[in-house]
Amino acid sequence: MRKKIVAGNWKMNNDLGQTEALLSKLLKKMPETETEVMVAPAFTNLRMAFDTLIQSPVEVIAQNMHFAENGAYTGEISADMLKSVGIQTVILGHSERRAYFNETDETLAKKVDTALEHDMTVMFCFGEELEDRKGDNHFKVVESQLEKALFHLKAAAWKNIILAYEPVWAIGTGETATPEQAQEMHKFIRKTVAEKYSDKVADGVSILYGGSVKPQNAKEIFSQPDVDGGLIGGASLKAKDFVAIVEAI
Ligand code: PGA
Repeated sequence: MRKKIVAGNWKMNNDLGQTEALLSKLLKKMPETETEVMVAPAFTNLRMAFDTLIQSPVEVIAQNMHFAENGAYTGEISADMLKSVGIQTVILGHSERRAYFNETDETLAKKVDTALEHDMTVMFCFGEELEDRKGDNHFKVVESQLEKALFHLKAAAWKNIILAYEPVWAIGTGETATPEQAQEMHKFIRKTVAEKYSDKVADGVSILYGGSVKPQNAKEIFSQPDVDGGLIGGASLKAKDFVAIVEAI
């Protein structure tokens, strides 16, 4: 059975005190669930978040990391640094990293390799832009992102990969893919992984949907057969909304 996952990407929001406050609300409200729940605070708050959630089933994950082991990369964070504060999972390839920090699938392939070499789990984000969808190129774009960043991996590595399909036009815009659009793409992604690897690999990988998921639309999106959960931005900053989304699975 594939894992159901709901992850909150807090992006560059919340200082230490605000993060403490949000974590404490989450701890109070979080229901018992089979779903894996994750939150990704800013780097400066990871240690505190890890310590706060250590007794809870909610996993603290990172929003990014560098591919190098260490060295002269001012402002960057390594896999060892993340692991030393208890982090086991890292989001890579978020569209904001691609758009504002020039991350390419080639750079991301290196980051994926480094994370896996450190026995971390990668939540790999990808998805097409509006022009790609308008030009009917969305399947091609998504296939190429997967090929360039992930298809060099051995089949065994896929047990540590989570996919997060996030159409760029739906992120932070209030515009969500329809449940049918999400299902159509998730099915395509699974088929693409099956063709490259095997049905076993494809059936085992959790594919999350991200882009304006809210309590109001989560249930319908999560009810699609190939949607195994969500990566939530804006709505994960309010404990009540995030918990409602977790409960919608
Ligand atoms: P959003 O962000 O839910 O605010 O659209 C999703 C994401 O960026 O992961």
